[in-house]
Amino acid sequence: MLETKNGMYLPTDDFASKSHADQATYQAMYDSSVEDPEGFWGEHGRRIDWIKPYTKVKNTSFAPGNIDIRWYEDGTLNVAANCIDRHLETRGDQTAIIWEPDSPEDDALHITYKELHANVCKFANVLKDMGVKKGDRVVLYMPMIPEAAYAMLASARIGAIHSIVFAGFSADALGARVAGSNAKVVITSDGAPRGGRVTNLKDNVNQALNNVADDVKCLVVRRTGQQVAWRHDLDVWLHEAAQNVSDDCPPEEMNAEDPLFILYTSGSTGQPKGVVHTTGGYIVYASMTHQYTFDYHDGDVFWCTADVGWVTGHSYIVYGPLANGATTLMFEGVPTYPDAGRFWAVCEKHKVNQFYTAPTAIRALMGKGPEFVEKYDLSDLKVLGTVGEPINPEAWNWYHNVVGKGNVPIVDTWWQTETGGHLMTPLPGATPTKPGSCTLPFFGVQPVILEPTTGEEIHTTAAEGVLCIKDSWPAQMRTVWEDHERFEKTYFADYKNYYFTGDGARRDEDGYYWITGRVDDVINVSGHRMGTAEVESSLVAHPKVAESAVVGYPHAIKGQGIYAYVTLMNGVEPSEELRKELETWVRKDIGPIAKPDLIQWAPGLPKTRSGKIMRRILRKIAEDDFGALGDTSTLAEPEVVEDLIANRMNRH
Ligand code: WT7
Repeated sequence: MLETKNGMYLPTDDFASKSHADQATYQAMYDSSVEDPEGFWGEHGRRIDWIKPYTKVKNTSFAPGNIDIRWYEDGTLNVAANCIDRHLETRGDQTAIIWEPDSPEDDALHITYKELHANVCKFANVLKDMGVKKGDRVVLYMPMIPEAAYAMLASARIGAIHSIVFAGFSADALGARVAGSNAKVVITSDGAPRGGRVTNLKDNVNQALNNVADDVKCLVVRRTGQQVAWRHDLDVWLHEAAQNVSDDCPPEEMNAEDPLFILYTSGSTGQPKGVVHTTGGYIVYASMTHQYTFDYHDGDVFWCTADVGWVTGHSYIVYGPLANGATTLMFEGVPTYPDAGRFWAVCEKHKVNQFYTAPTAIRALMGKGPEFVEKYDLSDLKVLGTVGEPINPEAWNWYHNVVGKGNVPIVDTWWQTETGGHLMTPLPGATPTKPGSCTLPFFGVQPVILEPTTGEEIHTTAAEGVLCIKDSWPAQMRTVWEDHERFEKTYFADYKNYYFTGDGARRDEDGYYWITGRVDDVINVSGHRMGTAEVESSLVAHPKVAESAVVGYPHAIKGQGIYAYVTLMNGVEPSEELRKELETWVRKDIGPIAKPDLIQWAPGLPKTRSGKIMRRILRKIAEDDFGALGDTSTLAEPEVVEDLIANRMNRH
């Protein structure tokens, strides 16, 4: 049992002594990282193999009008070589990737570093044959199969920039991203089995490409063997093309600041933006956080349950672990198939040492009862991780007691698509934890709490306000794809000279951080970010919808649910049928994760006299907390609110 002191869970002496960092080491390293970032990152940058070593370490500016972030800018390297080739001599026969398929009846795969090398080289040569060159964009729309990792690493190997679109997104969303990055090739599979059901990925790709760009080629991995509609001259089967290429492909020499990938993410306004991550700083930081946050040691089996369509999958299924020569587990399925014990069955089967998942999954499994966990031997677990949203103490305690049997440290990692890797997290051998707190910053990270209206930094230890970061870290996003102005406007305009995270936070008397949630119009659904503006613009695109406002509300499993107020066109009658029609509309337009959980028919929306929607009021009504509406004196038509309250959808 982990000992507690003042409500904190302490690392055991035994764990601390074997860990990469005990408390004193963390403190000393953290201090040096902020006192001398050049020295610190100059030293730790050498954890990566460089073709041409850097002489410059940090060249970053958050100054208004000059947002410019460069790390290791004169160094050259190749990320795929760092994730594969450099391990061949020492661990060529070690498993790099364990693949666990959707169905437990099917065999798992163990792919060694040598096999990974051959597969990635072939994949890279196929891409080259399809005309992909350094700097070209390649879109991935893939199930969780080893070929997803091969495709990422093959792109990195030849210097192409990958942009992964989560396979749960719709054909329309995929099309927009292919067009947005002007991609040359889309990589997909015939179908994607998940939870016993198959999504027809290739069909979606056909539809997407038909609408936006009918000259884009498609590389197709055979996964299910189902029939697919083939676009002659444009589509290529991987298994056929791979027969004609060599299993050797020399890695391209890349500059540290060349883009490695684009990943679209939702914000408070407009359509999703393409977050750009570059090569050198990203891989240094992904590898270092993977090692320290999870206390990863050689020979451990590491499992991150995310999908490669999210940044968590990029940094902690593929790049961080493989850069460290780890064995990383990739899971095709879902936590509840064939039953709610699947995660734990997989942990037992593959002797997982570090397990990393999201609070929403923990809450969903918690509801199914402890018996699903107790059936399995989880004695190999050394570290448990969580990411995606604040973890409620009930879920934390269940994770700690039922999964970890009270013995296993939990790391609650706070970070974002934009940050590339963990910014705040406990280190399991160093940091006493408090359920619900992401505790302290990682090396080199300087969080600050600002007073929201004045933007003044609050210097007292205990503080609450908006969370910003004072200085750059190596894996920071560099720009928004082809829109540097939007980058500056989104992250550096509201609070000058800081990176603005979009989150609110509290710092307690011990200096521990507690994320209080987004302060912008972004909602967090099952640990995934959704912009309310995006859902609104989808709804108003429906011919029967006049106006819409979307807010988040507390949801027992998802963290936040999507609550949509919809005003219909004159003469259109609300009906259950129309409600279903709108749900399907949004699903088709964006994807299942954007589907509103609740739709309320609103004869009107509460607006100020200048016509601005008063979202604060809409949030309160959606939360079923309308006793606390606050100041409503600026409302143009107060009776609108009465109607919304009377017909609210979320009643306790
Ligand atoms: C937003 C970022 C980074 C991978 C997953 C989501 C919230 C993330 C935590 C945590 C409290 C968290 C924040 C953040 N968030 N992790 N441990 N505790 N909140 O990536 O889609 O870019 O979303 O997720 O609100 O801003 P993302």
